Amino acid sequence: MNSFRAVITGTGVSLPKRILTNRELESMVDTDDEWIKTRTGIEERRLVEPDENVSDMAAEAGVLALKEAGIEVSDLHLIVLATSSPDMIMPSAACMTQAKLGATCPAFDVMAACSGFVFGLSVGAQYIESGSFKNVLVIGSDALTRHLDWEDRRTCVLFGDGAGAVVLTRSNGEHGVLASYLASDGRGADLLKIPAGGSASPGSEKTLARRDHCIKMNGHEVFKFAVRAIPDAVEKALTGAGLEPKDIDYLIPHQANRRIIDAAAERLDIDLTKVVVNIERYGNTSTASIPIALDELNREGRLREGDVLVFVGFGAGLTWGANVVRWGKGVAG
Ligand code: ACO
Repeated sequence: MNSFRAVITGTGVSLPKRILTNRELESMVDTDDEWIKTRTGIEERRLVEPDENVSDMAAEAGVLALKEAGIEVSDLHLIVLATSSPDMIMPSAACMTQAKLGATCPAFDVMAACSGFVFGLSVGAQYIESGSFKNVLVIGSDALTRHLDWEDRRTCVLFGDGAGAVVLTRSNGEHGVLASYLASDGRGADLLKIPAGGSASPGSEKTLARRDHCIKMNGHEVFKFAVRAIPDAVEKALTGAGLEPKDIDYLIPHQANRRIIDAAAERLDIDLTKVVVNIERYGNTSTASIPIALDELNREGRLREGDVLVFVGFGAGLTWGANVVRWGKGVAG
């Protein structure tokens, strides 16, 4: 039996230049800066440019992650792109990203809404642990602002655009992805959705009039679910790694609402100094929020060899999950 591990050897991000502040939103919809800040923690978010798409952001983040990993595009064996807002329904945004990167390896999308990066990382790690592939690029890229109803103040203040990527490389050491826990409950599918544009309800004048091409959300129920889902996923993933909450050096949760993060951290009895939060600058970037936060920690030089990181996501589906990672470049496998 082999004992390969998938280590994170590079991180990268792409953040659109256009910043939309809460103050600007005040002139667009019936909301106010104070409400958004106190109820969500968000102060501003990024918006894609008209000619910028999910695959553009994904490729840009990917290039940076490859650079840090010291890996050529030709050395990539797989691209896994987590997204809920692909450039088109078909083909996959992963294939578009592959072309933009100039890669030739297989590429596919993973759709698990805001849990997508956690699911995608687990998929990428499995290919490495099985010995199938050596270098895998895992990306979370979303432009959910393209699916917002800018007259619905309950949703349009929450989301932002961006991408984050990691390179996973085969290693024989103690570092890398130690365990993942993934969960889904399709009975909650109605709580958060974009009803039109799929095969059940293709785009039409009717769907446009009903704004069914936009995100519809039951905020209360999603909030309650998230506060339960985070501790559940973190505890189960840690158990899989033979660790406990006290062993965590950094908890990197999906950035959907500051209050959700605080409540979940309290349930887990984790000191808030160990919980990474950057929601004030980017809002909810869906699949990108965890790799963006990871990249910030990495670039700021805050990560130490051996640190235990836990990534935890939750979102539409419903889906939720966590990865436990021991930071460090490991030993080439
Ligand atoms: N500005 C001002 N007032 C607002 C706004 C706004 N943007 N939005 C709602 N309000 C009002 C409501 O109309 C309501 O007024 P009323 O009492 O007169 O009816 C009042 O504020 C309170 O509204 P609530 O919905 O009770 O506010 P709550 O504290 O629950 O916060 C929120 C709403 C922020 C949406 C919260 O429920 C939440 O964060 N839920 C989870 C959402 C989430 O995480 N989604 C992403 C999941 S990940 C993925 O897969 C995409």
